[in-house]
Amino acid sequence: MLINGQRWRSVWPVSEHTGVGIIDQTRLPHELVTVTLGSSDAVRDAIANMLVRGAPLIGAVAAYGMALAARENASDQYLEERYRFLDSSRPTAVNLRWALDRMMACLRPLPQAQRLSAACALADEIANEDAVLCAAIGEHGLALIRKVAADKPAGEPVQILTHCNAGWLATVDYGTATAPIYMAHDEGINVHVWVGETRPRNQGASLTAWELGQHGVAHTLVADNAGGHLMQHGQVDFCLVGSDRTTASGDVCNKIGTYLKALAAHDNQVPFYVALPSSTIDWTMSDGLAEIPIENRSPDELLLMEGVTEQGDVKQVRIAPSRTPGLNPAFDVTPARLVTGLITERGICAASRQGLLALFEQ
Ligand code: MRU
Repeated sequence: MLINGQRWRSVWPVSEHTGVGIIDQTRLPHELVTVTLGSSDAVRDAIANMLVRGAPLIGAVAAYGMALAARENASDQYLEERYRFLDSSRPTAVNLRWALDRMMACLRPLPQAQRLSAACALADEIANEDAVLCAAIGEHGLALIRKVAADKPAGEPVQILTHCNAGWLATVDYGTATAPIYMAHDEGINVHVWVGETRPRNQGASLTAWELGQHGVAHTLVADNAGGHLMQHGQVDFCLVGSDRTTASGDVCNKIGTYLKALAAHDNQVPFYVALPSSTIDWTMSDGLAEIPIENRSPDELLLMEGVTEQGDVKQVRIAPSRTPGLNPAFDVTPARLVTGLITERGICAASRQGLLALFEQ
């Protein structure tokens, strides 16, 4: 996707796979900083500390982490240990385990001497494939946006509300929820995106607003709590969010606050769509509320806020009394009954086992 008119991806191999390049997302939108991760340790730190984040991107970067591990030591024992080490970096997005399992299934049967080249090739394949899947999600979602646009009075934009960042920064390219939006914009459809700020880490304000702006898509930042009000006043045609883990029954786990948006959408008969590649489906789970592990992050993410001063310095300030404790669950589960449809690389389906199986039964 575009930064200052130049094409970028969110992850790329560096110097014949001796490193992996990323954008440090903790520095956006104030600074565009790239980092080369040169070891499996550095990859784990980058995922755990959210220099990279978003379910599909976490999976792709972890795959490169396994390739770096194979360079460090291609023995069975080391690779198994690195698999567990990388897998422990974040608990909720299933793409992490999915990518690591795929890497290990490829590497385990190989002689040690062949593991490095195979790991590098497979990490590239996983990254490239994610871009292809997101482009396909874009095509299916675009058909939906075209239909909504056709029913709008001339000159009125299609109004889409999103939450968190399910954009190209959260994937390898295009994004999940944003892919249809970019495609609609590129073919001249008038789209406008309501971007929820996404407290506490503000991925909406910092990342989604930034990448939509870089692509020239009309958008407006709103407080997380404004979504229901906008829906009540007919200002949202549909909601479109991403997913960190989707159960086989169609429950969707996404950034904290997604559930409240889905409830408001249901109450106001606003369609609520979730865009996801099949790497985000966890076929082993069917009850999202009971089974999906929800990451609890540091309360400091809630108690402190970061921003840039007029002088351009990035500063943190405390916004709660110094002794007030905080609780910071990072994700919530939206039950399938609140989801209008899942937009996948194979088409749009009902958020149900039957819907998913109709597209993905092998
Ligand atoms: O905590 P984050 O920033 O990794 O959470 C990301 C999200 O919740 C995204 O919406 C989700 O991964 C879908 S991304 C295509």
